Amino acid sequence: MGKQTAKQTLTVALLLCLGCSVLVSTAAIGLKPQQEANRLLDRNKNILAAAGLLQPGQSRADIDRMFAEFEVRLVNLDTGRYASDDEMKAAGIDPRTYDARKAARDPALSVSMKGDDPAGIQRKARFATVYVLPGDQGLRQLVLPVYGAGLWGMLYGFLVLEGDLNTVKGLSFYEHKETPGLGAKVDEPDWKAQWPGKPAYNDQGEVAVRVAKGAATREGEIDGLSGATLTTRGVDSLIQFWLGERGFAPFLQHLKTGKA
Ligand SMILES: Cc1cc2nc3c(=O)[nH]c(=O)nc-3n(C[C@H](O)[C@H](O)[C@H](O)COP(=O)(O)O)c2cc1C
Repeated sequence: MGKQTAKQTLTVALLLCLGCSVLVSTAAIGLKPQQEANRLLDRNKNILAAAGLLQPGQSRADIDRMFAEFEVRLVNLDTGRYASDDEMKAAGIDPRTYDARKAARDPALSVSMKGDDPAGIQRKARFATVYVLPGDQGLRQLVLPVYGAGLWGMLYGFLVLEGDLNTVKGLSFYEHKETPGLGAKVDEPDWKAQWPGKPAYNDQGEVAVRVAKGAATREGEIDGLSGATLTTRGVDSLIQFWLGERGFAPFLQHLKTGKA
């Protein structure tokens, strides 16, 4: 009788485990499209926020409608031009599903930054996704993905340029590991409000927008984050890098001359 009870208990436990694992797996698979949709919504919201187009309380439909105005394009960072169909085909990339963060971990789709890595990114994907907002007179805004090392991890965000491809429209980070009250001040509206209107480059074509170590002392500078020197340095370095020659500078030059 005792033996039979143990066997029954084991069977019930096993069946329960099996049932639960089927339930969890089904839920995980079933929710995947929803998770992907939420991830895209979050990304689009961040792009709109960086572009200064997101108003509080906007619905999902509003966000979808506004984001639909952007063209999603891939840039070949080696050539500084929009990626051609042949280049994407040769790299095995589908532009609709391309994920530059994943690509940066794939040796076939990225280059190592070892030895000269001012932004601390370790690897750089060969293709970047940019978001173009067309206007009545050509380009209205250009959203560039930027990332680099802070104190505790990588900061991921978007730098938005006005249609002149020189005036900063905004900078917004959608993911980082910096400390609340210190490095996480990158999210504070007051700090972010300093970015719009700053020229990205000076007349010599050098990157002009800088994050100061302390309070900004000259035109074009952004205040450093008090008590967070390392995050401040990280943000300054990543902006210098992505606006520089190994980042988007060649692409912006080509875009300005209509040769992208
Ligand atoms: C718990 C803790 C969290 C910190 N978080 C940050 C941070 O997010 N960003 C940052 O730059 N510094 C952070 N710091 C402070 C740095 O360690 C460092 O002291 C600070 O960047 C100032 O550098 P400085 O002394 O060279 O000016 C943190 C310190 C502690 C103890």
